[in-house]
Amino acid sequence: MTTPRLHEPDNLVLQARDVHFDWSAVPLHWIPGDPVATHLVNVLHLLLPAGEEWFVRVFTEALPLVRDERLREDVLGFIGQEAVHASSHDGVLDHFAAQGLDVRPFVRQVEFMFESLLGDRGVTGERGRAWLYERISLIAAIEHFTGVLGDWILNAEALDRAGADPTMLDLLRWHGAEEVEHRHVAHDLYMHLDGRYVPRVRAMGETVTMLLALWQRGHRYLMWADPQVGGRVKGGLHHFRRTGPAGLTPSGRLLLPSIRRYLRRDYSPLGEGSTEQALAYLASSPAAQAALR
Ligand SMILES: [Fe+2]
Ligand SMILES: [Fe+2]
Repeated sequence: MTTPRLHEPDNLVLQARDVHFDWSAVPLHWIPGDPVATHLVNVLHLLLPAGEEWFVRVFTEALPLVRDERLREDVLGFIGQEAVHASSHDGVLDHFAAQGLDVRPFVRQVEFMFESLLGDRGVTGERGRAWLYERISLIAAIEHFTGVLGDWILNAEALDRAGADPTMLDLLRWHGAEEVEHRHVAHDLYMHLDGRYVPRVRAMGETVTMLLALWQRGHRYLMWADPQVGGRVKGGLHHFRRTGPAGLTPSGRLLLPSIRRYLRRDYSPLGEGSTEQALAYLASSPAAQAALR
């Protein structure tokens, strides 16, 4: 069973864009004068490389089970896009290190989580299948947030007004636009292979718990390791109370109602964000346009 596409151009073929970014001129605090907000967004760079490589491994494992040609094409396009996302965010981490912000110890913990705790566990047969479906349900829940966050960053004009670095904004918006573009794929795959409601709800609960813990720890780590902050300001989720309403980061007001929508039985990811807007951004993105040439 595949969810009908409500607001999606029928002929949209998902393609990976071979983007490259030159980080050399990007300041450490790319939201000028606001290391707190900069690092709340930077947590993404710590989580996405390992997380998206994990998506690629799980979806590659699921591909032989897909019995719908269109969905198979979408899953292949999704795999291609996520692989480029992972390596693009990884490039930022080298630039952080060159500026004295070494995030690799934290990243190694994140890699351990995705490779060991959420890896294939060497189980086969019925149990292997159940564990594969459980991981797909987690990815579908995570992809709900990447779609919502992608829509947010495409519309986050407060970052432009704050003078955020244009190269970093292009990375985030190119990625966000592709997240909006492929936001239906993980949910479609879950509905095609499993589709049960209760595991979907459970996966959302686990995802929210995991993301809150990782964001709290990741932000604390960045604020502690940043040589320019020097540990003077302690990181943590409480900073969202300022940065969210200021439009510099997502806010609870954006995320909580979106979780309620996810929990509806008739949820469709296509209700979040606009494919048209995503494609319009990709048609103007410096990195995506350079990839075409
Ligand atoms: Fe991605
Ligand atoms: Fe994605």
